[in-house]
Amino acid sequence: MIVSKPKSAPRWTTSVCLLAALCCVFIPAAAVKHENFKTCDQSGFCKRNRQFADDVIASSTVSPYALDPASITFKDGQLSGVVLKTLADGDKVQLPLTVTFLESGVARVTLDEEKRAKGQIELRHGSKARKERYNETGKWALVGGLRPSTGAALGADAEQGHTNVFYGKGGKQQAIIRHQPFAIEFQKDGETHVKFNEQGLLNMEHWRAKVEKQQEEKKEDGEESKDSEKKIEEKTEDESTWWEEKFGGNTDTKPKGPEAVGLDISFPGYEHVFGIPEHAARLSLKTTRGGDDAFTEPYRLYNADVFEYELDSPMTLYGAIPLMQAHRKGSTVGVFWLNAAETWIDITKTKKSANPFARSKSNTDTHTHWVSESGLLDVFVFLGPTPQDLTRQYGELTGYTAMPQSFAIAYHQCRWNYVSDDDVKDVDRKFDKFNIPFDVIWLDIEYTQEKKYFTWDPLTFDDPIDMLEQLDKHKRKLVTIIDPHIKNTNDYHVIDELKKQDFAVMNKDAEQFEGWCWPGSSMWVDCFNPAAITWWKSLFKYDSFKGTAHNTFIWNDMNEPSVFNGPETTMPKDNLHYENWEHRDVHNLNGMTFHNATYQAMVERKKGELRRPFVLTRSFYSGSQRSAAMWTGDNLSQWSHLGASIPMVLNQGISGFPFAGADVGGFFGNPSKELLTRWYQAGIYYPFFRGHAHIDTRRREPYLAGSPYTEIITQALRLRYQLLPAWYTAFHEASTTGAPIIRPNFYVHPEDERGFAVDDQLYIGSTGLLAKPVTQEGADSVSVYIADEQPYYDYFDYTTYKGAGHHTVQAPLEKIPLLMQGGHVIPRRDRPRRSSGLMKYDPFTLVVVLDNDGNASGSIYLDDGETFDYEQGAFIHRHFSFDGKRNALTSSNLVTAVRSVKCESYLKTMDKVRVEKIIVVGAPSTWKDKEEVIVMEEGTKESKRRKPVPLEYHASQGKKAAWAVIRDPKVGITRGWKIDFGSGSAHVHHGHEH
Ligand code: NOJ
Repeated sequence: MIVSKPKSAPRWTTSVCLLAALCCVFIPAAAVKHENFKTCDQSGFCKRNRQFADDVIASSTVSPYALDPASITFKDGQLSGVVLKTLADGDKVQLPLTVTFLESGVARVTLDEEKRAKGQIELRHGSKARKERYNETGKWALVGGLRPSTGAALGADAEQGHTNVFYGKGGKQQAIIRHQPFAIEFQKDGETHVKFNEQGLLNMEHWRAKVEKQQEEKKEDGEESKDSEKKIEEKTEDESTWWEEKFGGNTDTKPKGPEAVGLDISFPGYEHVFGIPEHAARLSLKTTRGGDDAFTEPYRLYNADVFEYELDSPMTLYGAIPLMQAHRKGSTVGVFWLNAAETWIDITKTKKSANPFARSKSNTDTHTHWVSESGLLDVFVFLGPTPQDLTRQYGELTGYTAMPQSFAIAYHQCRWNYVSDDDVKDVDRKFDKFNIPFDVIWLDIEYTQEKKYFTWDPLTFDDPIDMLEQLDKHKRKLVTIIDPHIKNTNDYHVIDELKKQDFAVMNKDAEQFEGWCWPGSSMWVDCFNPAAITWWKSLFKYDSFKGTAHNTFIWNDMNEPSVFNGPETTMPKDNLHYENWEHRDVHNLNGMTFHNATYQAMVERKKGELRRPFVLTRSFYSGSQRSAAMWTGDNLSQWSHLGASIPMVLNQGISGFPFAGADVGGFFGNPSKELLTRWYQAGIYYPFFRGHAHIDTRRREPYLAGSPYTEIITQALRLRYQLLPAWYTAFHEASTTGAPIIRPNFYVHPEDERGFAVDDQLYIGSTGLLAKPVTQEGADSVSVYIADEQPYYDYFDYTTYKGAGHHTVQAPLEKIPLLMQGGHVIPRRDRPRRSSGLMKYDPFTLVVVLDNDGNASGSIYLDDGETFDYEQGAFIHRHFSFDGKRNALTSSNLVTAVRSVKCESYLKTMDKVRVEKIIVVGAPSTWKDKEEVIVMEEGTKESKRRKPVPLEYHASQGKKAAWAVIRDPKVGITRGWKIDFGSGSAHVHHGHEH
């Protein structure tokens, strides 16, 4: 089949430009092309369900869904039954229901559809599409947490009309399952927090037989139609998009007809809802149907390559995580809508009159309305009570962030494109010349021979191994891009194998689908197919992908998938995947199946060389965190995009996929030097930190900016490198508890109502480091919001900020606003190096930041930063604690690792690594005449056990807090020790003197 060139080539398709033998001049465009993407009104099922919602709410219609009491059974933590949907003609559709109460305290509700009498769901003649509702989203997204609770029990005093189940810790949670109309209320401590179908918007569009046009015409002629009775119940519905839908010149055939699932989910007493990335929008989600500053469209989840996306918008972007959390003082609850089809979410809020007795409850109820195009209704309900519980429970289900190699959290230098291996080597040398640290350099699509992945352009990259060797000298890495579209051309083994083995996604007629992407005509590998995954893995072996080595890693882009000539720049929904599931059913999973396959390929690429893979993905779904990092795609070099990146990356964090970042400098356009500098100063706080730029932009490696910008950017990069131990520890926490790496105010201070909507500043892990990036042009100060009464100290000069509320922090260009909350011990490495790999055995500095009571604590997690040996105990996890009453700082083991062989040999490699400096910020004035401290280290010889080490005290000056420093206390990072600061309680008069 021959696919014609797209009618209007996207403006960023360089290949298309080259085909036209034109020079591609980048023209910064004003805005996203709205006409390329559907509004709710243009998406049949969304329009139908919004209309349905309006009708139901306007007419107070009773929901036609009822749980048949006779069908209810309860066994082993699971309630089963049948929900009956009564149609207008009295006919009933059977919807099997399960409500499973999980050990974790989470409840899961699924509603399926019973296959009806055969003829009724006969598909379009000859269609190959599967005739069931897609029920495998969980297979891709879920990895655990599904054990049913043994303690869940039916309520003994269940009144008629509903069934109660008590579950969760101590049976303090309750699900009240109402029979008619079918609805569920989820309670904790006797109060309702989440309600299903309160508004009556539950809508399972049941399968039905297609009434052929001819029949309708006949009917008009006065002839009796066999289906006339059936038509009565359907005639009031809008059928225009049931069997076919057109958009932008594409026709979506729908062999299965309408099959959307919709439900309203309310959060009574909750004013703030967060989550459902990816959108370029504020963290606290806006209403979408009226209200102050509301959106007019629902939030959409339909992974797509949105060119020049707009800000402050509910439009879809590249990835989807259908997890929403509702937060108020004292409680966080949430829902996870496990469905991978196109999904829209409306949000409304209703205000009640103030209730002076409700202390924690807000007077606002938030109502949400979820609609997906196909598949099951499958929803998890979390009752918290804290934001930490929610991220942990969601992580139990979908997996925690994979612990990355240590290089992956350092700085990545990318552009489209480094044009040759000499170019790469030159950039590598220039970074060294200017003493700027970096760990990874990236190759975009131009490194390939004519966009054929797994090949190198022989003219420009004739010796990739030599290039990799040069990088390896400073422990640097290379990332090369591999996209899912495979060039459809002759003499290319990858396409030959793809075709021969039938591993490509198929079109609706079950022929290999052909579309248009960077290489021109292309086919897409179908990673839903296990055999295709096995084949995909083989392509990454060193003897297959020649020119790669142990320091080569992979970038998976365009995996929404982006199809330039497809509807909404993606694949037709009636395309078919493995086992004949329609693309419509699995669209939002597509990107994840691809980067998962790449991850597996990296694990297996060489026998005996097991390293943690690094894969960057643009498209994602719930579970992507297990195998990839993400970035926010093609942003613009504009101040507003710099600002928007902070809530976007924060949202990824609270939604279980925290290894996230945005293109530093902005992808499209040329940033001013000031913007570039500020972007680096902000980018150091992205968990994934990469500079990237479009092919038509000017070069902007940090050393090109010139004085003073280069020096200022270098300082920012050094700050990231200095704090890598703190970042690595935060990643470890994410990988074991699901906690975000950078955290919004509400997550750290869940009781502080004033800060719930704050989304322009962030906390790094559990370190107490609070950063407020400058995102305004010309700004020389920022207003930092402080949530509590602890002292906050400027990271650089210890200026003290105290008292809940806003504080002005000076931020001239060379200054990065970064505060340290009292109460933490922050681990750092202060020696500037060329790459993180070269810091592996560097000594540590501990910054002890005292709180109001003179106490502080913190931790450090370390492992070899490369292998999976940490899974066998090869790690160091220490707890540092400064006790203000006893005036002592201790280092103790946080987790006692199994002293495995791997553990012993790792500890040996770290044996000589020491703490070279301890800084105490907010040092008590009682220390001012102190000259030394006593250091005791475990495991050292008796004679060395107690040794005095000098203490240097710096009195406070004005607002600048007093601080003390101990140089080279000669204590190891692997051992326990104690530093005795002698008599004089630390909690007396710490901080600045008046
Ligand atoms: C789109 C990606 O978002 C961008 O980062 C990349 O440079 C281009 N594709 C070219 O591969």
